Amino acid sequence: MDRFLIQGPCRLEGTVRASGAKNAALPALAASLLTDHPLTLERAPEVRDVGSMRQLLSGLGVESQRLEGGALRLVPGEERSGFEAPYEQVKKMRASILVLGPLLARRGQAKVSLPGGCAIGVRPIDQHIDGLQALGAEVMLEHGYVYASASRLRGTTFRFGVPTVTGTENLMMAATLAEGRTTLENCACEPEIEDLATLLGRLGGRISGQGTPTIVIDGVESLGGGDHEIVADRIEGGTYLVGAAMTQGDVTLEGARPEHLEPLIDLLRAVGVEVTTGADWIRVRGPRTLQAQDVETAPHPGFPTDLQAQFMALMTQAEGISTIHETIFENRFQHAAELARMGAEIHVEEHTARVVGPRPLSGADVMATDLRASACLVLAGLVAEGETMVSRIYHLDRGYHAMEQKLQQLGARVERVPGPPTP
Ligand code: EPZ
Repeated sequence: MDRFLIQGPCRLEGTVRASGAKNAALPALAASLLTDHPLTLERAPEVRDVGSMRQLLSGLGVESQRLEGGALRLVPGEERSGFEAPYEQVKKMRASILVLGPLLARRGQAKVSLPGGCAIGVRPIDQHIDGLQALGAEVMLEHGYVYASASRLRGTTFRFGVPTVTGTENLMMAATLAEGRTTLENCACEPEIEDLATLLGRLGGRISGQGTPTIVIDGVESLGGGDHEIVADRIEGGTYLVGAAMTQGDVTLEGARPEHLEPLIDLLRAVGVEVTTGADWIRVRGPRTLQAQDVETAPHPGFPTDLQAQFMALMTQAEGISTIHETIFENRFQHAAELARMGAEIHVEEHTARVVGPRPLSGADVMATDLRASACLVLAGLVAEGETMVSRIYHLDRGYHAMEQKLQQLGARVERVPGPPTP
């Protein structure tokens, strides 16, 4: 298990380019199951989760290869072989559930292992199942698997009980091949959903309303192939911007969409950070002193839960008490204990964390527990005095491509230290 060895304190300075979004690439890859034609995805990030999805698709007859220049080409096999996403695969990555809707819509059946929980919460999929049943699927849960079948899905109106990102994506993909019109209400509005709808439209799907709570899909007989560039990763990019704010740095994030990072930009300005933006770039200059600020996570366009841990690291350096209320997942404060071992003062009660700052951080051996907690600990290591060793970096590798190189490019002293094999 690799580790990151970080020498702090440092100041991040320079330009870094955002990768394609992991959370847009995963549904885009799953969409390859909806068609018999090849699909080329530009900017599909080289991260572990994309590798896991490629492996899962290969078992379902869709082969993929990296082209010159990095695009990912997906070629569905002649026969549509199989319809199972096995536990071994799904337990590695919950987002495997995204093959459920496409398999059901295109192959008429699906057997997908229940994802199970993860470090940050139970992660139920009841909305995915209710939605597919509303489209006419027979769904059974047995022996830890979802079994779904339908000769042809039929359009309907379905309202989500809670806005769910992958739930919205699963239903949108399934409805593209359903008979008639499907209206999905109370949908999630994340930019990654809009990106998937753009891709589905390029393949011949007929979708409108993406990015709003109501999405309308008119089913078609079949989809073609096409090319698509994955949208920039607002969470990866936002992580580097928080790093600049924390280290009194000066970082320009290129190839990013400022409008997708508005909640973070507003919050950074509120804590005293100077932020300037252009069509496809965002520049952050970190101040000498940061002001404490309360924040509550919420579905887009609220403050993203995937930047909560990074923001907590920032608030350890702010003047005053910041209250962070995590409303999306029930166990997403595990990074607080590790930050405390570096000298932070954080009081966690249920879904609220109170960060008392500023507190000088000192380097320590810390352990990553989940993807975004890992990023938070790396950021803390950048400002901590001395050496920080972040272990279990495989969590980070799930969603950040070449983070150590990108940070080195910005002047950080961080290196990847090979460890024993990943479990
Ligand atoms: C997606 O997860 C992202 N993953 C997560 O990013 C992100 O944190 C999350 O959306 C919220 O923005 C991908 O896109 C691959 P949800 P998802 O369904 O779809 C409840 C990262 O770090 N819910 O939007 O699994 C659920 O418990 C990852 O990149 C139900 O109750 O999240 C949660 O409270 C972590 N029933 C809320 O909805 C359901 O059927 C939002 O979850 C589904 C969800």
